[in-house]
Amino acid sequence: MKMVRCRICGEVYLGSETPSHCPFCGAHREYLVSSEEYPADINDVQLTETERADLETSIELERSNTRFYLGMAQHKEEPVLSSAYKRLSKIEAEHCELFCKLVNIDEPDDLSAPMEVSDDWCVNIAESVEREKRASSLYRQFAARSTNERIHEVFDAVSAVEADHIEFDGVASAYAGCD
Ligand SMILES: [Fe+2]
Ligand SMILES: [Fe+2]
Repeated sequence: MKMVRCRICGEVYLGSETPSHCPFCGAHREYLVSSEEYPADINDVQLTETERADLETSIELERSNTRFYLGMAQHKEEPVLSSAYKRLSKIEAEHCELFCKLVNIDEPDDLSAPMEVSDDWCVNIAESVEREKRASSLYRQFAARSTNERIHEVFDAVSAVEADHIEFDGVASAYAGCD
């Protein structure tokens, strides 16, 4: 049994092998490190005005995406997709929690409230692609203009996770038989 810690979300993973992605926030393997490589004060950062505003935008975005995926997960007539999007909602909630930690505020209290979504899986998957494209490109932009190393690292890592979700939407779309 190994114990690795995610430098992005701070969660500890237990298993025999280091996974390809953090099971909690989706960060890539390069961020899964030994606990010594995760300093206790990793999220104690001095934010610039721009970094604070960018994190606040990100909190709202993750909050909305968490609730959107929870809405998709309510459609249990398709159990595999329902479960997959429940997983995505948990990953987005993890991102929301991380951004809140960096701003040093409490997380929103409606993260477990599903959003009203379409009954049509294909419509929802298409909306997911749009949401993930927006998130991934915003975070790339936020990473590029951040001056703090930790903020840069976090936006870089999370941008890559949202890009992975676009790829996953392709898999889901084929599974659901969408055009
Ligand atoms: Fe993580
Ligand atoms: Fe996210």
